Amino acid sequence: MQDARDLRSYGRRRGRARSRRQQALWSQVLPRFVLAPEEMPSQAATDVWLEIGFGGGEHLLWQASHHPAARLIGCEPFEDGVVKVLDAIDAQNLSNIRLWTDDARPLLRALPNASLSRVFILFPDPWPKARHQKRRLVSAQTIDALARVMRPGAELRVATDIGSYATAILQAVLGGSHFDWVCESPSDWRLRTQDWPGTRYEAKALAAGRRCYYFRFRRCG
Ligand SMILES: C[S@@+](CC[C@H](N)C(=O)[O-])C[C@H]1O[C@@H](n2cnc3c(N)ncnc32)[C@H](O)[C@@H]1O
Repeated sequence: MQDARDLRSYGRRRGRARSRRQQALWSQVLPRFVLAPEEMPSQAATDVWLEIGFGGGEHLLWQASHHPAARLIGCEPFEDGVVKVLDAIDAQNLSNIRLWTDDARPLLRALPNASLSRVFILFPDPWPKARHQKRRLVSAQTIDALARVMRPGAELRVATDIGSYATAILQAVLGGSHFDWVCESPSDWRLRTQDWPGTRYEAKALAAGRRCYYFRFRRCG
């Protein structure tokens, strides 16, 4: 359930009018891939990964096709992004993705303790203006919610292209006691690891000359 403290952290839910094909994906294909209540991961589940705000789905689809043994939950309230991913799931016959087409925070509240082994939050909406920063998704409250649902040793990956958000992310994560920062040298936060493909938003940020920050944190055990 949505909590009154969940300020809206995303922009639009819908973009352009859907084509007939997109409408068919939404009404006929989506029901097969929606995360059903009986599919909620359990503590015993092996590898369940969550991507929050997958946008166009480039990273989600890459991870699902490169890790067929993992179950991926993709979470995105922007319907055009969901339709794009449904098209690819259908074309590539991917069976290990389930979708949550809404705000991630009610999902985090519904997940059992220690049920996820990886979480990705890649370029969450930056909300750069000072008066909007309270809308940023990554906050101490979200980190606490993630700490509960991530198992010991689980990895949290977060990326941003905004310096003030990078600082806020480090403060939110390291201000608590649940995660260690996996960082031995500056390249650990300046470069993505090989199993971390780029996204559409990242490509735009780099093309505009902005530096990207890539953080990996490990849930303490
Ligand atoms: C700047 S876009 C980046 C998309 C993609 N990760 C990429 O790197 O190309 C941020 C995405 O996060 C989604 N988002 C924002 N708040 C969210 C929330 N509370 N739960 C789930 N997704 C959210 C937005 O709808 C948007 O698609």
